[in-house]
Amino acid sequence: MAEFQLRKIPAHVAFIMDGNGRWAKARGLARHFGHKEACLRLREIFDTCLEYGISYSSYYAFSTENWDRPQEEIDHLMDYLEEFFERDLPYIKSKGGRIVISGDLGRIREKTRKTCFEAMDSTKDNSTHTMNICLNYGGRDEIVRAAKAFVRDVEEGKVAIDDLTDETFKNYLWNPALPDVDLMIRTSGEVRLSNFMLYRLAYAELVFVEVKWPDFRRPQFIECLKEFQKRGRRFGGLENE
Ligand code: IPE
Ligand code: IPE
Ligand code: MG
Repeated sequence: MAEFQLRKIPAHVAFIMDGNGRWAKARGLARHFGHKEACLRLREIFDTCLEYGISYSSYYAFSTENWDRPQEEIDHLMDYLEEFFERDLPYIKSKGGRIVISGDLGRIREKTRKTCFEAMDSTKDNSTHTMNICLNYGGRDEIVRAAKAFVRDVEEGKVAIDDLTDETFKNYLWNPALPDVDLMIRTSGEVRLSNFMLYRLAYAELVFVEVKWPDFRRPQFIECLKEFQKRGRRFGGLENE
């Protein structure tokens, strides 16, 4: 039972799950143990979204820039992602959750890619809550791909240049059904976007918290939701409350 009533429910909350390496290092552990712990947090966040009626959540799991990390760390990350699906997908499914992926899976190793496709496929008819896992994802990459796809459609005569608006452009992003982000939360004290969801974040409320992602649990999430309640969103107009 929700312990407080949300006056304003964000439809879409996006997380930059940062600080895993520092979390592990502070405990004398190798960085990858932070990623392992990070994946264990996802179910609790999913549950909290269900509890508060949040329909969409996005998770920055691996960026187009994260390929610059040591291969060993990348391998561990993919291991833990596979483990997440093996461990938590049956539960997510049982609650009517849907998995979608944003990012080019072509460069992701075969086993992880297969796991991702199976997760998407086996949950495609679910609708209580959509978890959007951003994997090999970059905000600029997403916009450039969208631009190319639009030009291809123009060349093939499917659309006219003047059909493109800031709304129809969204049809060319990963998973067009995802609404704009209402609330973006970044853990670990870094105050930047690091190339995350640039198009859909245009009018998001941004919340930066000091806690590292492996320590981000239901109470910390609720604090962020409370912060969201306090924000006056104007979208360029005037406040109407
Ligand atoms: C975020 O944690 C996870 C990924 C980028 C994959 P980090 O691995 O960036 O952890 P810090 O920021 O170095 O502590
Ligand atoms: C952003 O975190 C990417 C993910 C959380 C997957 P990074 O740790 O890669 O970002 P920077 O390098 O601090 O900007
Ligand atoms: Mg980081």
